Amino acid sequence: MQTKRTYAIIGGTSGIGLALAQKLVARDDRVLIAGRSPERLKEALRVLGSSASGYTLNITHRPSLSTFFAQAPALSGLFTPAASYKTADFSDGDLESSEGLFHAKFWGQYWAVHAALPYLAPDASVVLMSGAASARPLGAPAYAACNSALEGLARGLAFELSPIRVNCLSPGTTDSTLWRNRPANVREPAFAAWQALNLVGRPASEEEQAHAALFLLDNGNMTGSTLFCDGGYTFR
Ligand SMILES: NC(=O)c1ccc[n+]([C@@H]2O[C@H](COP(=O)([O-])OP(=O)(O)OC[C@H]3O[C@@H](n4cnc5c(N)ncnc54)[C@H](OP(=O)(O)O)[C@@H]3O)[C@@H](O)[C@H]2O)c1
Repeated sequence: MQTKRTYAIIGGTSGIGLALAQKLVARDDRVLIAGRSPERLKEALRVLGSSASGYTLNITHRPSLSTFFAQAPALSGLFTPAASYKTADFSDGDLESSEGLFHAKFWGQYWAVHAALPYLAPDASVVLMSGAASARPLGAPAYAACNSALEGLARGLAFELSPIRVNCLSPGTTDSTLWRNRPANVREPAFAAWQALNLVGRPASEEEQAHAALFLLDNGNMTGSTLFCDGGYTFR
């Protein structure tokens, strides 16, 4: 009998991360998930059932990352969609949406992979999370740069950590909890604009993004790549 594989998902308590966790437990793998809110964590663990365990942590807090991974057996994979940030125009000169954004989204994932390293099996797969603004920014240049930096990080890590594989998932607008938590007067115009900006005429679903992340976890020939799951937005 094959031993169950274990995957860690930091940001696995809602949205795309939780959708991936559901796919993994459905095929009889184990998941170790994390997020900041104890309530969201509790609900996610209830949904996922006995193949899941989890802890609260903030991905920007390095000591918590070490404690989290110390709970892990050998990991077959890591996915890091956890990030909480705001974006703004360059001309605003705002620190939180420039340096703070990198702290939240880039350095969080960078140190998460570093903390996971002792626990990753030699055939493990790491999937970082960027965003399609890397290739087609519509303002917020620090956000575009942060996503590009993550895609570069995946290439650099793929080289240094081989045979561990490292890739990046770069979503376009996705109808996820992230957007559902934003006010309707922000979400609805953004979704309407998105329809015209991509080729499939709608936002992606969490399930579609989770499917793309699962492909990167599973396909043994994928490393150093960025997968744009964006309905053709970056191509258009
Ligand atoms: N949805 C989109 O349209 C879209 C498009 C492009 C890129 N992305 C990227 O996708 C990621 C977000 O995924 P999602 O759309 O599925 O959002 P989501 O539904 O809000 O899920 C985010 C997950 O990460 C956790 N999280 C957030 N900040 C965290 C932190 N500092 N430390 C630990 N956990 C944290 C959240 O739980 P807690 O809040 O409880 O911590 C939650 O589990 C971001 O990197 C975002 O840039 C999303």
